[in-house]
Amino acid sequence: MSTDAIVLLKEDHKEMRRLFREFEKAQEGPEGPASRRRKLVDEIVAALTTHTYLENEVMYPEVRKLVPDLEDDILESYEEHHVADVLCAELAAMDASDDHFVAKTTVLIENVEHHIEEEEQEWFPKVREALGRNPLQEIGERMIALRPDAPRSPSDPKAIKSARHAITA
Ligand SMILES: [Fe+2]
Ligand SMILES: [Fe+2]
Repeated sequence: MSTDAIVLLKEDHKEMRRLFREFEKAQEGPEGPASRRRKLVDEIVAALTTHTYLENEVMYPEVRKLVPDLEDDILESYEEHHVADVLCAELAAMDASDDHFVAKTTVLIENVEHHIEEEEQEWFPKVREALGRNPLQEIGERMIALRPDAPRSPSDPKAIKSARHAITA
């Protein structure tokens, strides 16, 4: 198994995209009950909370330190994470039968897909070029080590603290 940070983050992105497609399918026809949407949104929120935490705590600060030229990209990414955090926290607290539930999830999916796209198409190639193999493996190893302790819920104090730090760091 690769420990390359970019490979690991892309695996997370792939799983998120899978969940997003599942949610979209759950909108179609009678097989789209609120309980199914609830389950999928809970999975999306948990996956995003963990992923954002690992990026905020390890990947972004490490790259920021090692590649100062990428500062602006990282600041923009922190703000994009913040928008997703707000929507995740609201969805976690919202009833799945609420009129706004699907609309809010759709906006979350659109925002995260845009963010993932930018990371994969623009940011990761720059990071790989600037850092090379060994530093990316070290960063990946740190993310693997932190993952079991990473929050799964937006109301976890660890997630709140990390998110707050990300937009003021
Ligand atoms: Fe990100
Ligand atoms: Fe990401």
